[in-house]
Amino acid sequence: MQAIAVLASGGDAPGMNAGIRAVTRSALERSAVVWGVEDGYDGLVNHRMHPLSSRSVSSIMQRGGSILGAGRCEEFLDLEARKLCVNYLREHGVEGVVVIGGDGSMRGAKELHKLGIATVTVPGTIDNDMPGTSLTIGCDTAINTAMEAIDRLKETASAHHRAMIVEVMGRNSGYIAVQAGITTGAEMIITPEHPVELSEIFREMELAGQRGKRHFIIVTAEGAPLSAPALTERINAADNPYEARFTVLGYTQRGGSPSRLDRILATRMGVAAVDALWAGKSDVLVAWQRNGIEVIPADLDAPRANPWDDTLDKVQRITTT
Ligand code: F6P
Repeated sequence: MQAIAVLASGGDAPGMNAGIRAVTRSALERSAVVWGVEDGYDGLVNHRMHPLSSRSVSSIMQRGGSILGAGRCEEFLDLEARKLCVNYLREHGVEGVVVIGGDGSMRGAKELHKLGIATVTVPGTIDNDMPGTSLTIGCDTAINTAMEAIDRLKETASAHHRAMIVEVMGRNSGYIAVQAGITTGAEMIITPEHPVELSEIFREMELAGQRGKRHFIIVTAEGAPLSAPALTERINAADNPYEARFTVLGYTQRGGSPSRLDRILATRMGVAAVDALWAGKSDVLVAWQRNGIEVIPADLDAPRANPWDDTLDKVQRITTT
């Protein structure tokens, strides 16, 4: 390939910059021109992309957000607009596009593929709700951010004998809520997948009060039936052992320096995305696939975690360019 483009689309997610860096340097290593598309598909529609060099992506690994911008683009839903995007890409010699984003972004990549541009999607969304991969870039950092905030909220809730209702992001997925709730020892977790009746919440509060608990933490996903303010109102309107307050963590979960896991994941996925383009693949997703916990024989000769494999050679090489 002579030239490729990279874009970040949908809501930004910590680690997207590490992905942009890895894609850019891996493609430069193959002597390709790399175009950075600004603000997701909007940059294709409105002809805003610029060449990326090794230097233009240096020292961005630790930064949240996206140096290329991100976003959702209504115009791209229109076929005629997409055809113009393809013309624009072709005028710049672009044969392949790496899209870093969520399922909506992957849908956009599929449309480009149909029009003859090779596409690879790298899963990037804090929600961890993409088909085909058990992990998306950004969700680890977002969960850590939520976890730290809930730890703090628990302290003040305890001091005041309060119920604290904490709403986390995730759109229609309860992944962030479940992980943040478990890691903070929340008394209750409410998700779109497992909504909880008000009567059950009140019963658990009553029991917690009887056990002498000084706080009652509820982590609720934004997609749960009741918003945090609405749930708080219901709790305070009833006769409960705890007075309730709420906190909506909102966009704090999208920002911040990516965790070590998100940096590694994004870097490895970015390298794999370029490999896939050069292998002639298109309409593909770079996925992380792991099974859940398994109980296996206690075998002292079983293989240990391998700290280094062939793909890591490539990952390390882009650092020195
Ligand atoms: O998909 C990531 C996400 O942060 C969701 O958790 C949330 O529902 C949505 O994006 C918010 O989108 P916007 O940035 O358009 O407000």
